[in-house]
Amino acid sequence: MTVHPSARIARAVAALPLRPGMRVLEIGCGPGVAAREVLQRMEGVTVVAIDRSARSIALALRGSQKEIASGRLEFRTVAIEDFELKAGEPRFDLAFALRVGALDGRHPAAGRLARQRLREALDPGAFLLVDDLPPVAARDLSPDSATACPAGAADEGTIRASVPF
Ligand SMILES: C[S@@+](CC[C@H](N)C(=O)[O-])C[C@H]1O[C@@H](n2cnc3c(N)ncnc32)[C@H](O)[C@@H]1O
Repeated sequence: MTVHPSARIARAVAALPLRPGMRVLEIGCGPGVAAREVLQRMEGVTVVAIDRSARSIALALRGSQKEIASGRLEFRTVAIEDFELKAGEPRFDLAFALRVGALDGRHPAAGRLARQRLREALDPGAFLLVDDLPPVAARDLSPDSATACPAGAADEGTIRASVPF
């Protein structure tokens, strides 16, 4: 059965600057609805979606057999604080997290670990989108905008974020 994305998830995925060939990391994917929506929106993109909950990943796997079989979607059970690229695995071009406390400022200590892992896993210049409660679609996410790269981001590397990074 196809699960259609909620308006919230559809809006967030529509705000991602997707391009063919991108490697995308979703953090805290839950049942995988946003990850599948990314594949729907852009051909030639591949997604690795992680969640620390084995139950969430089991649900995601159950609902994503077609996408997994296509080779474009992979799920991993791991917290972002522990996430590492596999040996020889290329870095990601884009990452996003929707309603994940380690990224949206609700859990600062976990957030520091998460950002360190992301600096190691994302390509320099990669795009990071975190929905920190204001509506994503209202934000200017262009690479050069002050919102996309707020104060504090520059000295942490070149990852652009929709929240201070
Ligand atoms: C509120 S749900 C949101 C699910 C989905 N992103 C959405 O927007 O509907 C948060 C999800 O993030 C996962 N999660 C929370 N903290 C995490 C972390 N530190 N690393 C990976 N996954 C995490 C939870 O297990 C849960 O599946």
